[in-house]
Amino acid sequence: MTLELIDYIFDHTGVDLKINPLPASELKALEIVADGDVNLLSCYLKRRISGEPLAYILGFIDLDGLRIPVDKRAYITDPEAIYLVQHLKEVLGKLPSQKVLEVGTGCGSLSFYLEHHCPEHQYWAVDIDSNPIDLARDTAQKRDSSIHFVVSDYFMGLPAEYTPDLIFADPPWGNESSIYDDDRPASHYHSMPGISVWPFKSITGIHEQIVDAILLKGWGCPVFMNFGMLDADSIWAAIHRAPHAELIQAAKNVTLAKLTF
Ligand SMILES: C[S@@+](CC[C@H](N)C(=O)[O-])C[C@H]1O[C@@H](n2cnc3c(N)ncnc32)[C@H](O)[C@@H]1O
Repeated sequence: MTLELIDYIFDHTGVDLKINPLPASELKALEIVADGDVNLLSCYLKRRISGEPLAYILGFIDLDGLRIPVDKRAYITDPEAIYLVQHLKEVLGKLPSQKVLEVGTGCGSLSFYLEHHCPEHQYWAVDIDSNPIDLARDTAQKRDSSIHFVVSDYFMGLPAEYTPDLIFADPPWGNESSIYDDDRPASHYHSMPGISVWPFKSITGIHEQIVDAILLKGWGCPVFMNFGMLDADSIWAAIHRAPHAELIQAAKNVTLAKLTF
């Protein structure tokens, strides 16, 4: 952003980007979506400076080059979720057509990513909250996607005869002090739907309930879950009821678990 534009914005809107600096990458992204409209740019800058997450202002997240719409109805996919879907891309790439089920899909980003890279599989995705499901269904229509999005508390809303071959999830985990990166403080997460962010029972409460729900169903399939930056003891305590489990250190601050039922 040029100094002239910074001065122009200050003169016309009172937004002083010298006092409220934003990272150059964010300014660039906002400038691109404003597309030369200084009024729009001013609106975006004021919203961002007031603490609104960048993705809600841009209206999309970028997952390894794939642009997926997001708005306040849905959780903003963490960039670290890429490790889960990259791992699954490798797994699914070696398998014949599978019935893949995502638990807690939000805006659908992770399922859209997998459908994009591994289109030979059949995807279903559930979320407890109908708001992100509405958003994901809109996106599915725009992308000509065949993912089935279902409002469901775990598996309750799925057809009785449905049986998945593989399940994956990036469920809410941790609490206000488990923060991936300084660029996303607790306030970033407070802007999102409450049920999407932190579990209410314990830091691994949703993971545990997913394990219990699978045991209740009697399904026999692999399950891949993201545990973010939680420590190994907490993770093992959460998954001990699965018949077989292994941890995958996908990155320094990202642990995935593969459970086999
Ligand atoms: C951390 S967010 C991840 C969303 C999405 N996978 C992403 O990466 O953007 C977790 C999601 O799980 C959903 N969720 C929480 N409890 C659930 C439950 N009991 N059944 C289904 N979905 C649930 C939330 O609504 C939220 O969309």
